[in-house]
Amino acid sequence: MRILIVYLSRTGNTKAIAEIIHNYVGGKLVVLELQTPYPENYRQTVQQVVHENETGFLPPLKTKVDSIGQYDVVFVGFPTWDMQMPPPIKTFLHEYNFAGKTIIPFNTNAGYGVGSSFETVKELCPNSQILAGFSTKGGIERDGILFVIKGEKEKQVRDEVERWLKKITFLR
Ligand SMILES: Cc1cc2nc3c(=O)[nH]c(=O)nc-3n(C[C@H](O)[C@H](O)[C@H](O)COP(=O)(O)O)c2cc1C
Repeated sequence: MRILIVYLSRTGNTKAIAEIIHNYVGGKLVVLELQTPYPENYRQTVQQVVHENETGFLPPLKTKVDSIGQYDVVFVGFPTWDMQMPPPIKTFLHEYNFAGKTIIPFNTNAGYGVGSSFETVKELCPNSQILAGFSTKGGIERDGILFVIKGEKEKQVRDEVERWLKKITFLR
């Protein structure tokens, strides 16, 4: 079983989850980067994302995944943005063919949950098997709280990830 772990992360929380998953299951870890990065400013970024969601704009990715066909399982990680899947993840799921693959979403958010993002994975990958996703509270950039998956919280999240991977039968 060949595993790809792809993630988008602005302030490091989703990246930390990706690394924890990678530690447990191995495979190839890939960070999604954009051709034109989002602004550093949080408010500007929110405005841009809301606009992209309204217009259906798919921001072009700098990252290219070599021969996606070789992977059986694709973990896809992203923060909740605008209570949705971030536009660059929409680009990624549009750009490649996931038919016949198993897709497993994972997420961090500011405490408001995954919004419509996990449903969107199902919509964009109609011919894939989508397993139950993982979600945990990450940062709250709006309030200046950036990276939080460290110290005690990191240990706690590691346990949560382990339990989840067992539940979806990725670990024994
Ligand atoms: C543009 C933008 C929009 C966001 N919208 C939401 C939201 O709608 N709901 C929520 O719970 N968190 C929202 N957040 C907070 C992030 O989901 C949260 O901080 C997450 O842990 C960030 O992950 P990262 O560190 O991997 O970038 C938003 C953050 C950004 C930058």
